[in-house]
Amino acid sequence: MNNAGRRVAIIDGCRTPFAKSGTDFRNVTAVELGKASVRELIARTELDVEQIDHVVYGTVVQSVQEPNIAREVTLGAGIPPRVPSFTVGRACASSNQAITSAAEQIALGMADVIVAGGAESLTDVPILFSKEMREALVRASKARSLPDRLRAFATIRPRHLAPIAPAIAEPTTGLTMGESAEKMARENGISREEQDRWALRSHQLAAAATEDGRLTAEIAPFYVPPKYQEVVQRDNGVRADTSLEKLSTLKPVFDRRYGTVTAGNASPLTDGASAVLLMSEEKAKELGYTPLGFIRSYAYAALDPADQLLQGPVYAAPTAFDRAGLTMKDIGLLEVHEAFAAQVLSNLQWFDSDEIARKRLGRDRAIGLPPEDRINVMGGSIAIGHPFGATGGRLTVTLLNEMRRRGEQFGMISVCAAGAMGFVMIVEAAPA
Ligand SMILES: CC(C)(COP(=O)(O)OP(=O)(O)OC[C@H]1O[C@@H](n2cnc3c(N)ncnc32)[C@H](O)[C@@H]1OP(=O)(O)O)[C@@H](O)C(=O)NCCC(=O)NCCS
Repeated sequence: MNNAGRRVAIIDGCRTPFAKSGTDFRNVTAVELGKASVRELIARTELDVEQIDHVVYGTVVQSVQEPNIAREVTLGAGIPPRVPSFTVGRACASSNQAITSAAEQIALGMADVIVAGGAESLTDVPILFSKEMREALVRASKARSLPDRLRAFATIRPRHLAPIAPAIAEPTTGLTMGESAEKMARENGISREEQDRWALRSHQLAAAATEDGRLTAEIAPFYVPPKYQEVVQRDNGVRADTSLEKLSTLKPVFDRRYGTVTAGNASPLTDGASAVLLMSEEKAKELGYTPLGFIRSYAYAALDPADQLLQGPVYAAPTAFDRAGLTMKDIGLLEVHEAFAAQVLSNLQWFDSDEIARKRLGRDRAIGLPPEDRINVMGGSIAIGHPFGATGGRLTVTLLNEMRRRGEQFGMISVCAAGAMGFVMIVEAAPA
């Protein structure tokens, strides 16, 4: 992005609380969550909605009834209907994609003010009928008489009535995310204890940042419809009371006999939404905003899903650093998305491996790592939760807010995604 167009400012961002699926938001759709986060963003930034040029929003499991979530969020969040909107999908990096698609429009001079973000409900997922049942329903809808309609179902057997839920599995390999994390743990020699330690750290740091208000400051309280009496104010997956002992008793889920990945060291299925306001540097000045920071560079990359599925960020990082004109030594804080502890530890191992750099990346040296106390300093997705379409917005806002508190100049975001894709963004703090 540097030397390629106008500078893109990240003004501010916020999110709903993140709730384990089937809990606080069991009766709330992704669209409702998205609307709440965008409305809050507009209120917090006192943005004149007439200034908005575009809305870009991400989601992974699309609603059949509301397939362009960006449009519904725009129309429901008090943004003028003339503002166009589009939905993007890049698996767990979908809200990162929303942010970079917005940034590209701003850099090219095609927009000045864009609301980006993403939402996910893993409670409210579309469940399909079998192919046979779908065909019978279509036949029945075309039938002209009651007997014809009944005949349309003549070939239906009890097994055709079984519903089909969306799988968190790779279409090309058939492996679930959890099985892929197991594979990475095995191939990289990451033990169960190391994974549980990372999970414990995630919960302890997230619990501390919830107690001292750093995490909750980014959260918009959510009044639960239809009565709006119950209010959710915190992420409900963070366990202040977990311990290595408790984590070590949990049974492996994806490889029951020899596995190491458990409910404790995996991110939970989660509902939630995030929203981020982006502007051109000039427009931010004109409207009197002090941005949180600027996008310095970013890169997407991918590998073969049959390889190590969640190592995409390792492939993206060298390009992002080249584009930024920086190295890992410049990075004061690093936010690594935590799909599984096995994946975080595998990413960190590879970021720091000269051998991986030579063999797989065509580079002489590894990009390296900052000290561990600069990585995910407010916990990560294992504790906070991971609504697929929303996590990228959370990481961006959390990183920039913490950089400001600590006076850090540069930060890095790393996100692995299904399809063996990876995303790395380098951000730069704005002078406060
Ligand atoms: C791993 C997974 C299957 C677990 O689902 P689940 O069984 O519904 O998880 P739960 O939250 O009910 O936890 C199971 C048990 O572990 C316990 N547990 C979970 N985390 C714990 C922790 N940190 N400390 C102590 N106990 C914990 C729960 O209390 C629960 O115990 P119980 O059965 O006695 O109530 C699910 O979270 C999952 O699929 N995660 C991966 C999501 C994914 O693939 N994401 C894609 C990333 S890119």
